[in-house]
Amino acid sequence: MTRLRPPISIREVDLDRDFPGIIGLYRAHEWSHANDPQRLQTAVRCSSYAVVAVDENEIVGFARAMSDEAFAVYIADILVTPERQREGIGRALTQAIQERYPLETYHHQVLIAERGVEGFYRSLGMTPVSTFGLTAFIRTHR
Ligand SMILES: CC(C)(COP(=O)(O)OP(=O)(O)OC[C@H]1O[C@@H](n2cnc3c(N)ncnc32)[C@H](O)[C@@H]1OP(=O)(O)O)[C@@H](O)C(=O)NCCC(=O)NCCS
Repeated sequence: MTRLRPPISIREVDLDRDFPGIIGLYRAHEWSHANDPQRLQTAVRCSSYAVVAVDENEIVGFARAMSDEAFAVYIADILVTPERQREGIGRALTQAIQERYPLETYHHQVLIAERGVEGFYRSLGMTPVSTFGLTAFIRTHR
């Protein structure tokens, strides 16, 4: 696990306390999830595992995962406040999820990488599916 500069810590989400900070991160990155707060709240609440990075009382990062709690986990929405990127916060959030769903038990940790962040995921031991001669498929309205 990455050692963050104290007092930054990674902990599991407390939805009532953390939601304003979490939606603030989606807004800061202009992600459309922020346009429907109720739906975003449902998404966070129904995630299998969700974590925040906290600096004193300020939420500076968020990540969540959906899992069958047996074989597979899908990692989503890793967000670090724009002013606090490249401090190791994104790495610590992702590692918290990777440690919660270890590869020995969970054979697949999957995610969809936004453009420009492939290097971030490679640095966390993740590999493009094409490396294995596989193709990931997506059905989307985009
Ligand atoms: C992607 C994101 C979560 C990374 O968080 P971060 O806190 O800045 O990343 P870290 O400081 O933990 O970086 C970890 C490693 O990844 C590298 N890295 C970080 N961002 C990178 C990028 N965009 N491209 C390539 N490498 C990157 C860092 O250099 C570091 O490498 P090192 O350990 O060799 O020094 C953050 O930039 C972000 O919130 N982006 C906007 C939202 C987004 O696109 N999220 C991803 C959705 S798929």
